[in-house]
Amino acid sequence: LLLSLSAALVSYLIGSVPAASWLARSRGVDIRKVGSGNSGATNVLRSLGKGPALLVAAFDILKGALAVWLARALDLPPEWVGLCGVAAVIGHNFSPFLGFRGGKGAATTFGTIAALDPVTGLGVFVLGVATMWLTRFVSAGSILGAVTAGILVVALGRPLWLMLSVLFLAALLIWQHRSNIERLTAGQESRIGEKVR
Ligand code: G3P
Repeated sequence: LLLSLSAALVSYLIGSVPAASWLARSRGVDIRKVGSGNSGATNVLRSLGKGPALLVAAFDILKGALAVWLARALDLPPEWVGLCGVAAVIGHNFSPFLGFRGGKGAATTFGTIAALDPVTGLGVFVLGVATMWLTRFVSAGSILGAVTAGILVVALGRPLWLMLSVLFLAALLIWQHRSNIERLTAGQESRIGEKVR
């Protein structure tokens, strides 16, 4: 149990590394004060452009996957593998480096889910990216990706620990996107390619 708890704590710390905030700060930008104010790749895209955004997205996806890989490398029971993935997302969203605030967890949730269940991850990727492509709303793609993940784990009859981990992550992601949902329904969400300052 001590090993499992330590792995979950390390996963939380891996997740809490605020790549978007730190990269933006290194370029003289306070990510909390531009665009949506969110510490995530989408807001880096808005304020700094494609290259930095891709870097942040890749890093944040890796945080989730790394937590799962670490738990597996330690041979932890499957429920703890799921918990470690969840802990990375919680670290991203509620980071001690940002006063327990953080991002919305789309990239890290994707990394966790893809590592936990690659088939579900692939479904999420296809539907999420297609939605982003068609609507030009990253938030809509993230939310639809989360819904897809929830449906897939249930439809595929995954073990209870996996279903609960993914359903929790999907619910958390949607909750974190509540301001986006308001903007989307009000027709005020910003689209990919719209730069802000
Ligand atoms: O998870 C990020 C994306 O779904 C929304 O980011 O900056 O538009 O709130 P943002």
